[in-house]
Amino acid sequence: MTNDPAKDQGKTANTMWGGRFAAGPDAIMEAINASIGFDQRLHAQDIRGSRAHAAMLAAQGIIASSDAEAIREGLLTVLSEIEAGDFPFSAALEDIHMNVEARLKEVIGDAAGRLHTARSRNDQVATDFRLWVRDQTDAAVAGIEALQRAFLQQAEAGADWVMPGFTHLQTAQPVTWGHHMMAYVEMLGRDASRFRDARARMNECPLGAAALAGTSFPIDRHATAHALGFDRPMANSLDAVADRDFALEFLAASSICAMHLSRFAEELVIWSSAQFRFVRLSDRFSTGSSIMPQKRNPDAAELLRAKIGRILGAMVALFTVMKGLPLAYSKDMQEDKEQVFDAADTLMLSLAAMTGMVQDMAAQVPALKAAAASGFSTATDLADWLVRALGLPFREAHHVTGALVALAERKGCDLPDLTLAEMQTGHPGITQEVYSVLGVENSVASRTSYGGTAPSGVRAQVARWKEQLA
Ligand code: ARG
Repeated sequence: MTNDPAKDQGKTANTMWGGRFAAGPDAIMEAINASIGFDQRLHAQDIRGSRAHAAMLAAQGIIASSDAEAIREGLLTVLSEIEAGDFPFSAALEDIHMNVEARLKEVIGDAAGRLHTARSRNDQVATDFRLWVRDQTDAAVAGIEALQRAFLQQAEAGADWVMPGFTHLQTAQPVTWGHHMMAYVEMLGRDASRFRDARARMNECPLGAAALAGTSFPIDRHATAHALGFDRPMANSLDAVADRDFALEFLAASSICAMHLSRFAEELVIWSSAQFRFVRLSDRFSTGSSIMPQKRNPDAAELLRAKIGRILGAMVALFTVMKGLPLAYSKDMQEDKEQVFDAADTLMLSLAAMTGMVQDMAAQVPALKAAAASGFSTATDLADWLVRALGLPFREAHHVTGALVALAERKGCDLPDLTLAEMQTGHPGITQEVYSVLGVENSVASRTSYGGTAPSGVRAQVARWKEQLA
């Protein structure tokens, strides 16, 4: 109510909770309060939860079976109306819960009023949202696995293609293309396992916590939990309606995954540049320039590099909403949904786009090899040989190799181009055999330590992951 009785006239109180209200809300109040504009995305989960709740109420003798049947059937009608896109969502009815219930009443009559027995919108929204986030968690795992398969294909094709490995983005040691691809398979494997872990923790059912304290009706929370695919009901009704940690875990797992995607996206931007030419991105995932006819821009990769900003932003936003909230439910928590919706949409789109790009990208094998051989990339192999063949302490071998690199640099050539006499200026014990370790193929083949870049190791990891993802 305003303080001006004249202004309150003509507005009717909310039919769901308006018993003690003489007038309806101000238009601005309705605008800030209503969530139907976005929480209609929860309609399938809302109706699924309500159908389980109605069945349980009847099984417990709390409402008549005939009413429960009418409610359950009527809810299916409402569901099909929403899915057909001809449902008149109303902001005056605030949210998806009250929109569905109001329509149910139009469809089946007064029996609809029995659905909300032993329930509150607080446990209802907590249940709906958990179901929604759980679905998205499954979708994230599926999307990640599809991307892993794309990387695996690349790794298998190029298990022995040699490319430069970098530290500080400076040429470090030769690695194999397959090894580089498999690094992402590993990262994504941990991403998927983070989602699975989060799913296991979130899979408890808030329904039946009611507003905050539980209910005096003889409900069966195990039955509804089971019907909705949860492992068990949540054990504390205050906790059940008050926490959104499951959403935060989803956002955290999403942020970490998006961070991984962002790193490969950056590598694609670098690798597809004219200065590198390590990969060619497909036409499907490149764009041209409206002014520069020669351009092939890696727009999809750049966008994937950026998407982490939205997802991480959503996580920070929800943390900020949740921090300091007293138990139990507060309306602040209505701010959880848009962040999670946007982050989930962004992550799924990102995974799909990255999968397409990885499937299509063509490694430029000769360019990779040429780059691998430059920049004294086998200097470590030379030092290791000095240790193995001549028994030098590694520190001394490092020093000798450094001097030979400097000599090659002065001559403007690579290490394998030095003559044996020149090599022996570094150490008189050096023999012809040294040249066998200076080739990039030999270099990568020699790195057979567990987890190393040797093609044999890459093939073993590919086989292991193929089995795991089968
Ligand atoms: N739209 C609300 C939300 O998203 C549903 C719960 C409302 N509960 C309440 N007591 N007003 O949080």
